[in-house]
Amino acid sequence: MKVAIASDHGGITIRNEIISLMKEMNIEYEDLGCECDTSVDYPDYAIPVAEKVTRGEVDRGILICGTGIGMSIAANKVMGIRCALVHDLFSAKATREHNDSNILAMGERVIGPGLAREIAKVWLTAPFEGGRHEKRINKVKIYEEKELYA
Ligand code: RB5
Repeated sequence: MKVAIASDHGGITIRNEIISLMKEMNIEYEDLGCECDTSVDYPDYAIPVAEKVTRGEVDRGILICGTGIGMSIAANKVMGIRCALVHDLFSAKATREHNDSNILAMGERVIGPGLAREIAKVWLTAPFEGGRHEKRINKVKIYEEKELYA
């Protein structure tokens, strides 16, 4: 599995924590910034990660900002993205099993690096259950495609 990761200035500590986790897990990753801790705009990081996922250049994405909200809003505007904003372990597992989420968003002003690491570990390993959940995801895909060709 290959993962693209990025944060704004509000998510650098958790981004570094997740990068060290991916190294330990032997997960290939691409770090798309940000490069410094001066103020940057989260769409400039969310959209490139989301586009890499939707183009199939990476399998998954991880985005961190202060709340995780801006990143998740921006990523979910990109066709084919199912970005889940997660701050607990139950949701981390459930969003993989039920939503087949392809991007994980977290907020560094909401949770600490220890919990973020555990959330990422669960999210990176939990499989999609398919079945009835596939049908529900397909309904979202049909809507997306209708919008595209409207
Ligand atoms: C940056 O101040 C902050 O707005 C950003 O990190 C994020 O929380 C936005 O949703």
